[in-house]
Amino acid sequence: METLTPQWTDYELLDSGDGKKLERFGEFILIRSEPQAKWQPALPALKWEAAHGEFVKRSRGQQGEWKFRKPIPKRWMMQRKNLKFWVLPAPSGHVGVFPDQACHWDWINEGTKLAAGPVKLLCLFGHTGLATLAAAGAGAEVTHVDASRKAVAWARENQSLSGLRTRTIRWIVEDALTFVRREARRGNQYNAMVLDPPRFGRGPDGEIWKLEDSLPELLEASGKILSERRVFVLLNVYATVLTHERMEREAEGLRSHLRRMLGESGITITAGELALEDAAGRLISASVFARVP
Ligand SMILES: C[S@@+](CC[C@H](N)C(=O)[O-])C[C@H]1O[C@@H](n2cnc3c(N)ncnc32)[C@H](O)[C@@H]1O
Repeated sequence: METLTPQWTDYELLDSGDGKKLERFGEFILIRSEPQAKWQPALPALKWEAAHGEFVKRSRGQQGEWKFRKPIPKRWMMQRKNLKFWVLPAPSGHVGVFPDQACHWDWINEGTKLAAGPVKLLCLFGHTGLATLAAAGAGAEVTHVDASRKAVAWARENQSLSGLRTRTIRWIVEDALTFVRREARRGNQYNAMVLDPPRFGRGPDGEIWKLEDSLPELLEASGKILSERRVFVLLNVYATVLTHERMEREAEGLRSHLRRMLGESGITITAGELALEDAAGRLISASVFARVP
């Protein structure tokens, strides 16, 4: 299994330990919980105390909250290569970017540039749009689907911020499976796909997304709208169970799912994990993926 860790200037995993991570997003430093960090922090307490804010978990079942020690703007801009995007400490504890995903953005951008002809990409569960914009920036025509109106509005702002307003992007607020089934009925096809589903989610009309039950259905439906002249397919899933052996098994599971979707037995599918490395060299696993070519 490959482990990919991204190169960044605007983001840094400064330290981890005591069940937390200390991260720099542009100029601002935030602390969030990190169950994998069972070790001791490498940096002195003073460095942790200098963070602008911390997302403090409440008891089980309750959402946490941000506690700020220093003034912080409501939102601020970050950049990676040609992508510019807004980040903000959201009530969920997320900030609008998953920095580990930068490895996928590079791969999507390269895959689009290297394609022999036009790339028509379907990006499902596209969140704040960074995978979509990585492809659009390289010339792909993208259909971006997400259940959250807020996330899609945020993604559109990121499109403007990145100077990609003239690119062809269809922004769709819909349940991913409902959308794919409708595209199949209409006979619409795509030659590239990115699927980044959560473990659990809801469509805009309350449709329940539960990874174990919903993924096979979605992949079967997606296989029907994938053109024979495939450029690339990427399936990524955030990890919850975090031993290395378990990650390896999950990555293998995704590889089998993707192989079934593509219906080709001899095909080489890369499976791996995305991780972040702290300044002391310790790895925090984030997600598992399978992708082709
Ligand atoms: C794990 S995030 C995607 C991370 C993103 N690719 C990134 O790199 O920033 C999952 C996204 O799936 C969306 N979602 C959840 N359930 C959905 C559903 N049933 N249909 C479509 N989108 C859904 C959420 O709104 C959220 O934006």
